[in-house]
Amino acid sequence: MSERLSLSRAARLVGVSRGVLQKQIRDGALATFEGKVSTDDLAHHFPSVSLEPADPELARVNQIKEKAFGKRVFERALPDKEVLAARLAELGKDITRTRAELSHYQLVMQWLDDKFDELAEENNVLRSPLSALKTWLHRELAEAPEAAMVLEASESYRQVVAPHVRLTPSDDDFFVEGSETLLEAALRAGIAMNYGCSNGNCGCCKARMVSGQIKKVHPHDFVISEAEKNMGYALMCANTAVTDVVIDAGTAVGPEDLPFQQITAQVEEMAYPSDDVLILRLKTPRTSRLRFLAGQHVTLRLAALPPVNFTVASCPCEARRLEFHLRRAVGNPFSDYVFHRVEKDALVDVE
Ligand code: FES
Repeated sequence: MSERLSLSRAARLVGVSRGVLQKQIRDGALATFEGKVSTDDLAHHFPSVSLEPADPELARVNQIKEKAFGKRVFERALPDKEVLAARLAELGKDITRTRAELSHYQLVMQWLDDKFDELAEENNVLRSPLSALKTWLHRELAEAPEAAMVLEASESYRQVVAPHVRLTPSDDDFFVEGSETLLEAALRAGIAMNYGCSNGNCGCCKARMVSGQIKKVHPHDFVISEAEKNMGYALMCANTAVTDVVIDAGTAVGPEDLPFQQITAQVEEMAYPSDDVLILRLKTPRTSRLRFLAGQHVTLRLAALPPVNFTVASCPCEARRLEFHLRRAVGNPFSDYVFHRVEKDALVDVE
């Protein structure tokens, strides 16, 4: 039976970008229904997709294995044993359900066969069309499209290795890879989730699980009441996905959606790609992360200098490591100071 997949899941499955699928849809080459594509249509358009090493998921795991020199790297790259066991258990349930459905369909087919024979015996006129219908049905069932079956198998494999998460109401989506928490995976995907401490203390990342199954992978001090747990609330920084999940969670659209933050960071590194350009890298304390949107301005205060505004040049997914690209401006006190006097570990206030 064909399954309908979101564009992200379909793109990942066949190893192309969402843009490629969107173009095929715009060109009318690939059909969609309510924004989803069927595995049958995918198999038709990407007949070469297989579970051989070229498959994106298997290739990725092979890459991880090759690159994972140390045990710790390997552990981070794959889900932990309990999460993997839970995902396999879910897959097992799915297989059991599918087997039961198949047995039921076989019984229905048997019943149809008998009914056709019965009707054909009773009515001479119907004998020939019924026989043709029966032959057609058996041929269609025997010719299950191989490529579609491979895609289905690949999709099951993807669910174990990288469950898919969809957020409501924003409709953003992402995949949880390796040992990531839901929050880490969302930030890596560039989604501006609501969060604060990212270690289970503040409760800012609390969200409601609408469907699917999650698993706690980090203990947390923030208390979620029993009533809230029963409603599906959980911390995104302490849980990972066991199955594909839908989560009701707020995301920031503009800087006005983020709370005012004040963090004292330390200069971690200074790099000079040219005489006139300085890359200043700051690191926040372990317990404080700066939540910001891509390309957002922040205010920096250094020593007794007047505050200056700069764009954060680093990814919001790296909330503890902030990067700023500064061009030398002769006569500007801040520029003179950072180009000539600032040292590693100097304190910088970031707002
Ligand atoms: S971000 Fe603070 S509890 Fe999750």
